[in-house]
Amino acid sequence: MNLDSYFSVADFEAAARRLLPRAVYGYVVGGTEDGLTVNANRQCFDQLMFRPRGLMGVAARSQTVQLWDRSYPSPIGIAPMGITAICRRQCDMELAKAARAKGLPFVLSGVSNTPLETIQAATGGGTWYQGYFPGDTERLERIIDRLRKADIDVLVVTSDTPVAANRENNERNGFTLPFRPSWPLFWDGVRHPRWSYQVFLKTLLNEGIPRLANLYEEIGPPITREPKQGFRGGRDLLTWDHLSWLRERWPGKLVVKGILHPDDAIEAVDRGMDGIIVSNHGGRQLDGALPALTALPGIKAVVPEPFPVMIDGGFRRGTDVLKAVALGARMVFVGRPALYGATVAGQQGVAKVLDMFSTEIDRNLALLGCPDIKDFGAYYLDPVQLARMNGSQETA
Ligand SMILES: Cc1cc2nc3c(=O)[nH]c(=O)nc-3n(C[C@H](O)[C@H](O)[C@H](O)COP(=O)(O)O)c2cc1C
Repeated sequence: MNLDSYFSVADFEAAARRLLPRAVYGYVVGGTEDGLTVNANRQCFDQLMFRPRGLMGVAARSQTVQLWDRSYPSPIGIAPMGITAICRRQCDMELAKAARAKGLPFVLSGVSNTPLETIQAATGGGTWYQGYFPGDTERLERIIDRLRKADIDVLVVTSDTPVAANRENNERNGFTLPFRPSWPLFWDGVRHPRWSYQVFLKTLLNEGIPRLANLYEEIGPPITREPKQGFRGGRDLLTWDHLSWLRERWPGKLVVKGILHPDDAIEAVDRGMDGIIVSNHGGRQLDGALPALTALPGIKAVVPEPFPVMIDGGFRRGTDVLKAVALGARMVFVGRPALYGATVAGQQGVAKVLDMFSTEIDRNLALLGCPDIKDFGAYYLDPVQLARMNGSQETA
């Protein structure tokens, strides 16, 4: 597919909006309740500007970052996203392959639709797995046994989803889990014939109804049925003690996603985690939760170096990524942008979105007068805005 007319993530979003039925687009783009957090996730970038240097000799540039014993060509990865099969046929695979081809991390969601074993086999391994875990060690034992057998080496536990969020927009659009067909959804599909054929019909004919393939220890039921353990069975029982329990048994890297409070960051360090992802779940959980970028300085202030602090939420430009890197983020994950890319053109679309980020980062490093990202930091930010941001965290 010719993607020459796509210049920004916003172009992919506009195309995805046209392609997807209203209910599916609403599921992807939406936040919760009044959308305070989903909006704040974008607005926070306006409140932090750069202070570039000039005449620095920027001909040779690098955006390679180190994370644990690994080296990544850019500080970007793909955040976990569930039920992506409704956006694109075999969407999890398209996302995984695009990330793999670029040597960037891809986090497979616990509510994804392609068995993680299939993805590991097709990509030669390297996929990170995100768990929505119950607070029940017997069940956890069975789940991590599956992950160990599939050679998953980075386990990401999401901490901000103890109960279902209030996603009114989904309910208005008739989009529920378990998925229930209805006349409004049928007409929504009729008005989007390309989606109905390429995504709905082809998936149904080739793979059947998308499954909850990776939520628990077995390949779960189709999304039209509730798993026997429930969608969220026991998630509200999960505590830091379960993370300590996991730490003793999980041989790979262990990361907690959904951290916004410095005290949780301290818990993560004290309990032997390998990293955290500062995140408000893309504004899809607690409405009114602060943007991850705003939370970052307060969290960086309490964790020891070189403990990896990663981040996601609202990143749409290379400049957004660089603002988080300047505040100390090691890796920035993008959610919706990658899904818009996959919706429009599968692996090729995701690759183009990832390229946009890395091209913008490269150009902006030159414009900032800092050729190597490892030398990039708060020095390149407006000190007045930075002081305001740090002050607001200190008074908390
Ligand atoms: C459609 C969709 C599904 C998501 N599903 C999950 C999920 O299964 N697990 C999870 O931890 N986060 C999930 N998230 C949140 C993302 O991992 C990430 O925190 C968020 O999307 C980042 O914000 P951005 O989309 O603005 O980049 C989902 C986000 C979207 C948009």
